[in-house]
Amino acid sequence: MPPPTIYLLLIFSLLIPPHPTTADQSFISSLITQNGLDFVKNLLISKAIPTLTSTRIPKIEKTVRIPVIGKVHIVLSDITINRVNVGLSNIKPDATGVTIFGSDVTCDLSTKWHYAYGTWVGPISISDSGTARVKVIGMETSIKLGLHNQEGSLNLFVMECNCHMNDISIDLNGGASWLYQGVVDAFEEPIRSEVSKEIIKKLKAGVLKLGSVVQSLPKLISVDNIASLNTTFVNDPFLSDNSLGFGINGLFVDSRKGNYLYGKKLQPPVSCSDPQKMVGIVLDEAVFNSGFALYYNAIFMRWIVDKVPEQNLLNTAGWRFVVPQLYKKYPNADMNLEISLSDPPIMHVSSQIIDATVYADLIIDVLQLDDRIPVACISLEMAGVGSVQITKNNLTGHLKLDDFTMSLKWSKIGTLHMFLIQPVMWTIIETVFVPYINARLGTGFPLPIFRGINLQNAEILFKDSRITICSDFSYKEPFDPSHTLVYTS
Ligand SMILES: *[C@@H]1O[C@H](CO)[C@@H](O)[C@H](O)[C@H]1NC(C)=O
Ligand SMILES: *[C@@H]1O[C@H](CO)[C@@H](O)[C@H](O)[C@H]1NC(C)=O
Repeated sequence: MPPPTIYLLLIFSLLIPPHPTTADQSFISSLITQNGLDFVKNLLISKAIPTLTSTRIPKIEKTVRIPVIGKVHIVLSDITINRVNVGLSNIKPDATGVTIFGSDVTCDLSTKWHYAYGTWVGPISISDSGTARVKVIGMETSIKLGLHNQEGSLNLFVMECNCHMNDISIDLNGGASWLYQGVVDAFEEPIRSEVSKEIIKKLKAGVLKLGSVVQSLPKLISVDNIASLNTTFVNDPFLSDNSLGFGINGLFVDSRKGNYLYGKKLQPPVSCSDPQKMVGIVLDEAVFNSGFALYYNAIFMRWIVDKVPEQNLLNTAGWRFVVPQLYKKYPNADMNLEISLSDPPIMHVSSQIIDATVYADLIIDVLQLDDRIPVACISLEMAGVGSVQITKNNLTGHLKLDDFTMSLKWSKIGTLHMFLIQPVMWTIIETVFVPYINARLGTGFPLPIFRGINLQNAEILFKDSRITICSDFSYKEPFDPSHTLVYTS
């Protein structure tokens, strides 16, 4: 049985004469709006905080001159960031990159202190140790990320990373009273610089890790054993002051051999009627078309119908009055119907509507003993209206048939009166063919979306040969963390 995807493609495909596509053509593009970016920013911050809180800062040591006491060697060790809180944050794309700002950041650190000094009276050294709490208030951090297309993959890199602190307060447990001022004077600056350095280092490492995940996104995602979707990034990401867009090739390619590239130029950018939606994904007719062409060439689509709701249609007796000569030649013989696609279907997306035309041949077989005897073939041209939905992250569809025309292709039983057969055909199409197709259209095919991201409240628009999906999304940690950020259905 042909895989389910075929049927979607079958309906939503438009055969356009193939012509060579250029490397920078994108047939699926998506745009993350400011609301979507805010969501991503919150997600990234929630991921960054745990990595910062476990941070250990290298020990700081200094010899300071304390009035009366003299030179004292003070060491702060085991400096650990215990808690980070980001008060305010925002994300701002511009033409060159995307900046994430965090302000009103507070950080709690703990440290151990230790000092030693020699007295002027003799070589007796005095030492003491204890712990301290350090609080950083009003810190500001920003990280600017650049995004480039590198041979079809996304290269994510740090363009700038800053960290500034307003106030720090140090709270020593124990120690002599002179120690407090000595530590504040000598260590405030080193603590600031070490903590900033460490935060910057951690943020850069985080981006590097995220970048390697992004870079290793697959360039092809398999839909089934016949087709894959080409998810190669095309062109540099599109950046404006309130959105970030990506284009991928988006065409179906043969999982087994060469490509079927059918192309038309996609006009960016994505436009959603509701600016609140987090993401817009645009699919060109050519996406469905490429898939259809591929399946159409890869497998012969044929169904043998041996069960219908009106079972008398599968016996010549049921055709007695519409094709009398059939009944005369094969009285009370069982029949099968063979339906096959005779041509690629045609799909056209225009304002508010998807028109679909499906071409099929229907062969009437008479069953005699073990033989299947084809007696006539009728060509069908069915016209309908398609609709699409989002089911989980799959794009699924439904076909409603409006009309059909038919003609006799060949016959071994003489002329058939088409006007007599018409109601019978309509019944077969409506009760067998269309439900069969719709059952499979309901499965759809997966949209190329990061694993863990789930589309919500999707709204679908049709316009000028493009289907636009405008949606919100949520994120749920993928079950297997080693597979983060892999496309999924
Ligand atoms: C996928 O798309 C890219 C970019 O358009 C293209 O260079 C590449 O040849 C395509 N790959 C396949 C297998 O068709
Ligand atoms: C999504 O589509 C794929 C490919 O057709 C199918 O295997 C999968 O079951 C579908 N998922 C859902 C939730 O329908």
